[in-house]
Amino acid sequence: MVARLLLLALLVLGFQSPTAPRKGGNPEAAKIRNPIAVTPESLAAGKRFYQRLCIRCHGPSGKGDGEAAVGAEPADLVSGKWTFGSTDGEIYASIREGTSKDMEGYAARISEIDTWNVVNYVRSLAPKR
Ligand code: HEC
Repeated sequence: MVARLLLLALLVLGFQSPTAPRKGGNPEAAKIRNPIAVTPESLAAGKRFYQRLCIRCHGPSGKGDGEAAVGAEPADLVSGKWTFGSTDGEIYASIREGTSKDMEGYAARISEIDTWNVVNYVRSLAPKR
């Protein structure tokens, strides 16, 4: 009960998580380590979630050309440019916490492990240098 009230108070006061995505990146989020190796299993699991939840805005190849995007233009995930930071930890935080009203957080819909699978999958879409 007390914990709930405290949480509510923090929300009302505009509490921001220390790893909240920020333009230019967030060093606290960058510290989060990716515990999931890039394996065929991880990529396949990430792809399933991507197709279910992300493709409609970010598009089949990740270019941000999904058909259902409304509001802000979805980020191009294969350009190599990351508004909210390019580390695995920052991408993880963008997905879990959301970056804006047009890119909402997915923490309630994807487990932590599957979020890492999505991070691995999204990274696999970018052309190799
Ligand atoms: C309703 C459309 C929509 C959906 C669905 C959506 N996104 Fe986004 N996404 C956006 C928009 C718009 C932005 C740019 C937001 C901004 O600039 O604040 C964005 C930004 C991002 C970013 C930050 C990119 C950067 O440059 O730092 C990542 C990572 C991302 N999305 C991944 C995902 C993943 C993974 C999913 C599925 C779990 C997903 N998005 C679902 C619209 C969407």
